[in-house]
Amino acid sequence: MKKPVVFCTENKYIISDKTEAYLKEHVELIRAEERPTKEALMRQIGDADGLICMGPNYPVDSCFLNAAPRLRVISTTSVGYDTFNLAEMKQRGVIGLHTPDVLNSSVADHGIALMFAVSRRLTEMDKLVRQGKWIDTPFWEMYGCELSGKKLGIIGMGRIGETLARKVIAGFDMEVSYYNRSRKTGTEAELGVHYLPLDKLLQDSDYIVTLVPLTEGTYHMISHREFSLMKPGAIFINIARGPVVDEAALVEALENHEIYGAGLDGFEKEHFGEGNPLTKLPNTVLTPHIASATTECRERMGQLAARGLVEFFEGKTPSNLIPYFRK
Ligand code: DGY
Repeated sequence: MKKPVVFCTENKYIISDKTEAYLKEHVELIRAEERPTKEALMRQIGDADGLICMGPNYPVDSCFLNAAPRLRVISTTSVGYDTFNLAEMKQRGVIGLHTPDVLNSSVADHGIALMFAVSRRLTEMDKLVRQGKWIDTPFWEMYGCELSGKKLGIIGMGRIGETLARKVIAGFDMEVSYYNRSRKTGTEAELGVHYLPLDKLLQDSDYIVTLVPLTEGTYHMISHREFSLMKPGAIFINIARGPVVDEAALVEALENHEIYGAGLDGFEKEHFGEGNPLTKLPNTVLTPHIASATTECRERMGQLAARGLVEFFEGKTPSNLIPYFRK
């Protein structure tokens, strides 16, 4: 029987040799040589029954789907699928798969890394040392602040939020509160975290981490009003999608020292050059959307994305089906 044709974008970045070999046992795999642009990709997927890709790079809209009339499944090696038009996919009988759970630990670790980097001003200090300046300001002006015993407020208590809470409670004895659309009483009992209304969480927390998915309801959820509620010593971390935060409002809050600093892995417009004002501020630590990018985690993500595709073509319900398609 003819194997289904699966097109894989971005090559090694999303699937390892091991995952590629596994996929080849089950499907006819076509690999992109280099990461194609969306337009180039659209020219190559006319015969594809399935696609394995880094979803955030390839917004799936009707125009994209028109280019792939045979397509039945898109498997993204990301937990987020905000770039997918789910209704349009469903209408055309295309399902979506993603990679939840396997990235919880890596993303939570990156959140903690950013909390530390901002608290201990690691990038500023690194720059001084590299410039041969060592300590050229009064020593006390270089003091950072401790995580231990501080209050962390998590906005969006999903699987990553729970992992983060578990790690900082065990490792740094932090007091964790959360805000979420729905109350998580099981998590409260299990982890000893407590629910707070959003404004109260913003006023109370020393560290604030955003982990909500990007939806119409969460777009610019953190803006001028929310920053004005935070403590002047607050450290703000975004490891969710960039547009959850109103970046102009964040820049203003940082410039006016309304908050102490920010660590960001998501931006309103990614792949920016030097023009973004956040790059000019000393009290920011910026990473290029790499919270899940450890070798171990990306291997797990690639394997899960591939396994789901194979399950689908075997007529099973993939374990990593995007919940929207379960309805
Ligand atoms: C995810 O898994 O959604 C990461 O942010 C990578 O895009």
